[in-house]
Amino acid sequence: MNVLVTGGAGYIGSHAALKLLEVGCDVTVVDDLSCGHIGAIDAIRKVGELHFAEMNFGDVGAIAELLNTRSIDVVMHFAALTYVGESVEQPIRYYQNNTSNAICLFEAMRQAGVKRIVFSSTAATYGIPAQENIPITEDCPQEPINPYGWSKLMVERVLKDQLIAAQSNAEDFAFAALRYFNVAGCDPQSRLGEHHQPETHLIPICLDAALGKLEAVTVFGNDYQTPDGTCIRDYVHIDDLVDAHITVMKSLSNGDGKFYNIGIGKGYSVKNIVDACKEVTSNDFKVHVGSRRSGDPPILQANAKRIQDDLGWTAKYTHIKEIIESAWKWRKANPDGYVQCNNK
Ligand code: UFG
Repeated sequence: MNVLVTGGAGYIGSHAALKLLEVGCDVTVVDDLSCGHIGAIDAIRKVGELHFAEMNFGDVGAIAELLNTRSIDVVMHFAALTYVGESVEQPIRYYQNNTSNAICLFEAMRQAGVKRIVFSSTAATYGIPAQENIPITEDCPQEPINPYGWSKLMVERVLKDQLIAAQSNAEDFAFAALRYFNVAGCDPQSRLGEHHQPETHLIPICLDAALGKLEAVTVFGNDYQTPDGTCIRDYVHIDDLVDAHITVMKSLSNGDGKFYNIGIGKGYSVKNIVDACKEVTSNDFKVHVGSRRSGDPPILQANAKRIQDDLGWTAKYTHIKEIIESAWKWRKANPDGYVQCNNK
């Protein structure tokens, strides 16, 4: 299968590109390196042959040509801006990149006759779920509380409408949107890692504190309605997430419009994560309690039964320590992340 991976130099996209190569796909990566790392591309190329095009996924003409010349069968669309707080400050940038450019990508696919797509959506589309809706199923009302969540939800809507149009014209089309919860960990063989600039995610921040790169970790609020007062999240290992993509990709057939939650169905509080990071790193780094971060739902925990029932996918990594260990292994070996970092 010939797969186009957008955002393939980023954290999730690079892990997907590597795994796709390993399962025998022909992989083309599109990334403009605005957030991704050329070091990730170099690391993937140590494993297999990869076609890399440095371009923005919203460039209709260039993407359509690439889809044609590479004879692409399916697109995995990862490229996106992903900072909730930033999306509140710069909504246009988020809608431009995550929504408008996604529509451009779909137009390029239409022009090139590519009929299959797996789209990275997010649990942020659920907003703040009502207590009775936790753990969250795919049928939970989607009411995002920030432009990031809206920018992704709108793309889900566009895909649904495309499917409706394709069906009414008796055309072949299928998509799946995977709503990720908190993705964590690194390639089990430490060939790829997690490197964001700036880093805002809890686990990498704790690891930076353990490395002495940060003086302390700030816990954003301990007055939530949760057992220890800190927010609860569902952390899924990147390797499991990528397996879910490949399973879904292989399953897609004409007329499918699938939505799947990807999580492990278990919640860990911020305090649980901090304690687990201290244990894994054997470092008792400093922790302060600060004020709440705006836009943080108290609890995001998945019910991922639908993908299990439909396709037999379940997470292999169900213990938070194993997930953190894989992240720590790469971070310890690469304390400055991808050194050939090419961020613009
Ligand atoms: N947190 C801290 N201190 C920090 C960083 C984070 O207390 O220094 C807390 C956050 O407030 C939150 C939890 O740790 O309660 C997890 O925060 P992350 O930033 O690691 O992840 P988020 O839950 O905010 O967001 C992630 C993805 C989003 C996605 C969301 C969906 O980054 O893209 O999961 O669940 F939308």
